[in-house]
Amino acid sequence: MRIAGISGSPRKAGNSEYLLGEALKVAEERGFSTQMLLCSELRIGFCEDCGACSRGRSCQHEDDMKAVLAALEQADGMVIVSPVYFGSVTAQLKALFDRTIPLRRQGMKLKDKIGCAVTVGGARNGGQERAIENIHSWMHIHGMVIVGDNSHFGGIAVRPASEDRIGKNTTIASANKLCDLLERIEKKGGCWSGD
Ligand SMILES: Cc1cc2nc3c(=O)[nH]c(=O)nc-3n(C[C@H](O)[C@H](O)[C@H](O)COP(=O)(O)O)c2cc1C
Repeated sequence: MRIAGISGSPRKAGNSEYLLGEALKVAEERGFSTQMLLCSELRIGFCEDCGACSRGRSCQHEDDMKAVLAALEQADGMVIVSPVYFGSVTAQLKALFDRTIPLRRQGMKLKDKIGCAVTVGGARNGGQERAIENIHSWMHIHGMVIVGDNSHFGGIAVRPASEDRIGKNTTIASANKLCDLLERIEKKGGCWSGD
């Protein structure tokens, strides 16, 4: 099974990319194939609500979002990581989220995929849980199923993330829970309900 990971940070090799790496390492060690999508590398324009995707047409933008949409559609699970910016996710990640609207309008293509969220701030209490709620809202609106870290809401970290034991532990626990659920679904032949 396949897990896609997105980092919402505009900074290359920062805290978000470090935590995403830790989460995807867990998935790879458990035999999942993974794909990393980094906002520090992607070129993504804003959704302008032109309505093309509502009419079954492709997006007017010619940018990296095509590859992101394909990766999300192919994934069984997702790990989304964001720095906290003013108590929310980054503008880069929000732009990416908004541009996933064709997946919703053209057949709820992310429905029943499993997701978890990780956020990292400069302060221990800088709004990580609020930013996680932003990510969870995006997942809910796509009909996804959300897992936390088996205790609270997901990965909650403070900069520098590589030195934050709680941040790393909650990130790894979230990735493991995501993998646990995907494995259980796979054992049932990819079927959600019934024995
Ligand atoms: C515009 C801006 C707003 C920020 N707002 C917050 C905030 O509300 N709370 C917080 O804890 N940290 C805040 N930070 C700090 C970042 O969340 C922190 O540096 C984070 O580790 C950056 O992650 P990165 O290394 O993956 O880019 C802000 C940083 C920037 C640049």
